Amino acid sequence: MTAPLVIAVDGPAASGKGTVATGLATLYGLPYLDSGLLYRAVGVLAERGSGAVTEASAEAAARGLDPKVLDDPALRTRAAGELASQAAVFPSVRAALLIFQRDFAAQGSGAVIDGRDIGTVIAPAARAKLFVTASPEVRAERRWKQLKGQGESVELADILTDIRLRDERDSGRAAAPLLMADDAVLLDTSNLSIEQAADAARRIVETARAL
Ligand code: C5P
Repeated sequence: MTAPLVIAVDGPAASGKGTVATGLATLYGLPYLDSGLLYRAVGVLAERGSGAVTEASAEAAARGLDPKVLDDPALRTRAAGELASQAAVFPSVRAALLIFQRDFAAQGSGAVIDGRDIGTVIAPAARAKLFVTASPEVRAERRWKQLKGQGESVELADILTDIRLRDERDSGRAAAPLLMADDAVLLDTSNLSIEQAADAARRIVETARAL
């Protein structure tokens, strides 16, 4: 029997990690989890329930989270991203979401999970770890195009400010900050097409599998 293939893909907002991770999941026929959606759902539900993302409202939302809500397009908005990063600072929220993510990683033949702490906290024994990044300007432009495509009316300069704030909050928080695992491989997608990024990611995984 071949060992399960768990692939951890971490990186900051709009770095291309979702595209890289879905490409790898398709290539290897593995289930894929976008862990950011869990935090987005918690942030949105906490705000809907109590009008604000507090530790109590976010923890309650995380404990009762039904994975069916992850398909809601409302989770893909700019506002949901902001609420997610507010909810993600609370250790009790992270603890409540940990089991779901660990179980996802432990299923059958493996899994691909993307997020901020997959290689460091959720799946430290993952077979392959990628840290996907790009310059803040490139990431802002990608996110801006994505949001416009979804029908949101947004200014590029505001998205760049969002991205910088989110980087600061995600990297500066005490609980599971955005960190590159010691054994992760850096993939900078600033100057890469989707195909080039996918190919570079595949090579990183193949190298890790051969070790
Ligand atoms: O990846 P995405 O932009 O959807 O994530 C939204 C927010 O959720 C991030 O800015 C981060 O604060 C939080 N998050 C996290 N840990 C993860 C995934 C997302 O803290 N594994």
